[in-house]
Amino acid sequence: MCGIVGIACLEIENIGKMIRRCLERLEYRGYDSAGIAVIKNGTLIVRKGRGKIAELNKRLKFDEIYGKVGIGHTRWATHGKPSDENAHPHTDCRDMIAVVHNGIISNYLELREKLESTGHVFRSETDTEVIAHLVEEHLRPGSEPLDAFRMAVSELCGTYAIGLITVLDPSKIFFARMTSPLIIGVGEGMNMIASDIPAVLEYTNRVIVLKDGEIGYITPTEIYIEREGRPVSWKERVRVISWSVDMASKGGYPHFMLKEIHEQPLALSNTLSGIEMENIRNICSLLAKSDRIFITGAGTSYHAGLVCDYVLTELAGADVTTFIASEYRKYINAVDERSVLIAISQSGETIDTLMAVRAFKERGCRVIAVSNVVDSTIPRESDMVVYTRAGPEIGVAATKTFTTQIMVLTIMSLTLAYMIERLREAEYRELIRQIRELPTVTESIIRMHEARCMILARYMKNRANAFYLGRGLGVPIAMEGALKLKEIAYIHAEAYPAGESKHGPIALVERDFPVFFVVLDDYYVEAIVGNVMEMRARDAYTIALAPRKYIYKFAKLCDYVIDMPNIDYRIAPIPYIVPLQLVAYYTSVMRGLDPDKPRNLAKTVTVE
Ligand code: M6R
Repeated sequence: MCGIVGIACLEIENIGKMIRRCLERLEYRGYDSAGIAVIKNGTLIVRKGRGKIAELNKRLKFDEIYGKVGIGHTRWATHGKPSDENAHPHTDCRDMIAVVHNGIISNYLELREKLESTGHVFRSETDTEVIAHLVEEHLRPGSEPLDAFRMAVSELCGTYAIGLITVLDPSKIFFARMTSPLIIGVGEGMNMIASDIPAVLEYTNRVIVLKDGEIGYITPTEIYIEREGRPVSWKERVRVISWSVDMASKGGYPHFMLKEIHEQPLALSNTLSGIEMENIRNICSLLAKSDRIFITGAGTSYHAGLVCDYVLTELAGADVTTFIASEYRKYINAVDERSVLIAISQSGETIDTLMAVRAFKERGCRVIAVSNVVDSTIPRESDMVVYTRAGPEIGVAATKTFTTQIMVLTIMSLTLAYMIERLREAEYRELIRQIRELPTVTESIIRMHEARCMILARYMKNRANAFYLGRGLGVPIAMEGALKLKEIAYIHAEAYPAGESKHGPIALVERDFPVFFVVLDDYYVEAIVGNVMEMRARDAYTIALAPRKYIYKFAKLCDYVIDMPNIDYRIAPIPYIVPLQLVAYYTSVMRGLDPDKPRNLAKTVTVE
């Protein structure tokens, strides 16, 4: 996790301010401490500390640092607690080198011991600091900093995206990538490195996504990349990104999360128009030929996988296994060349999902990626890709990337069912027609229900626990609703199939305990009515999201109802999650929290 930035410009600029602004766009990656290092008149200026970037800027005056070359970091602590000393950049003994790093150096203890035995003095508890001392160690009189950097990197084990500057070669920013994401922003009279695309958008929309094992440097006018000691040509790898800087700013909303919830109609419509049916049909042919389909992802992406699992199994009769990415090992012996893995990751960089992809590929399994970030690692390492077109998602809580993932996965599942003649043409067309209406449907749900969700949040803000129950496709939506409340409002929330209540969880229910019911399938209405009654009998506070046609039924039974459109249950997961996102958002805000930056979390999890 953590975000890194480096900027090299031709003229002296207000570089501290430029780096600070870029870091703010990466703050979703970590926000417990931050820092900047700049080379000015041959000396290194380092300012860093514990806290969020805006507070630190007031205290440490990042905006008042001028120079041509600098690096910055926003941290999510792994090795060493959040503190001024552990904040990046880290320096060598003689303050000639400064380094920022995202990832984990797994052999740092051995390296540190070795370096300490030769006299190096460490100032932090981090794994990162070894990089600065290692480069210092390899810098012999007359040797090139690039050679020293190369030698240092060759001794590192683990995951890393590194940015390094040294007063001995002050126009360069050295970089290296292994597993942790890193891009180069290609500008005019300036070049940049960053952990993610939104960081550079204010200055350039031309980027190169670096690959594992690549190292090199940028200057204001030069880009040098090498791999296994040989220079790599990069000009043909420059991508022009269609995201604008406005897409990565709050645009008048108090939080990114609220903006991103409101952007869902647009994100859905962009995803819809970006889908290439030829690609979907090719993917479906692969799925149709496979013996077994696996689906994986983490957090919200796993929940999108569960939606896909349900539709593929029920409608296409496929043999589907969906698992949380970090638990892939259990399935390894069941995988072969006739298996297909659908790997879902909005960022395309989640390490757990990437590890599952690599392990499955080694067994000959074909991999289909669903991602929101073009050229990110998981799509690059997969055989086929479908991109969602949600635009950059900055809030830590996934919202628009979830609904667009489900849209893509549902179209894929329906198309497979149609291709293998499990779904009649008329029904397929009707379902696709309903999908096309989702941007409008979602927009009207936000318009009609935002105020009601706020009222509900007033109730939720004083609660310590909540249950989210559903049946069928309502289960993954209940799980996602509970995750949203947990991660941004810090309220303990549990989701499970409603039928499980009587097998244990109902023991926790007492007066005013909130229980959400996700009712989206006619088949389960009566069973859920029974579950509501059971909860009412224990004085729970019951809330139902139910289709308009059943709303009177549920209004008579429940304390609070949110009426949802009468649409096919296989399409319903997309609109149904929206009110649950809004309830979580307003509950978080009413509890005085920052929903964009929940404690202990980072947007992209690049450590196992
Ligand atoms: O980038 P990915 O989709 O692979 O991320 C997976 C999870 O880390 C992510 O969905 C996480 O659970 C979100 N914070 C949920 O809101």
